[in-house]
Amino acid sequence: MKKILVIHGPNLNLLGTREVDVYGSVTIKEINAGLEKSAKAKGVALEILQSNHEGEIVDAIGAAKGKFDAILINPAAYTHTSVAIRDAISAVSIPTVEVHLSNIYSREEFRHTSLIAPVAMGQVSGFGMTSYILGLEAAISLLGK
Ligand code: DQA
Repeated sequence: MKKILVIHGPNLNLLGTREVDVYGSVTIKEINAGLEKSAKAKGVALEILQSNHEGEIVDAIGAAKGKFDAILINPAAYTHTSVAIRDAISAVSIPTVEVHLSNIYSREEFRHTSLIAPVAMGQVSGFGMTSYILGLEAAISLLGK
């Protein structure tokens, strides 16, 4: 069975109560349940990680080589700052889809730049939890399923 690594970056553990006007009231638990449901329907397996630590995310990506067929990542604030996460994705050459709950291009200027986008296959931004579901669909389509 094909395997996809799902990574939620910093502060996404706080979804549900965090800036509800921006991110909505959906919780990470609900997002994960939605992803698991879609994955099951498509016959792929998921491993899901949430981390507030850049190094932990870098380690997880580095260890994904040979174990995962695709990566779905919401790098959260690290989107705009992390050369290390970008380099890790580049290093493992695992097809990666970047997702964001909010439309990062309609927000503050510092959010308009993604260091991850150039090494991702593509990006889905602005549709709340649906960004994750569409991103998963895209990741699965990259597997030729
Ligand atoms: C986010 C957008 C980022 O700019 C922000 O730092 C986040 C969440 C999103 O999903 O909309 O933490 O990645």
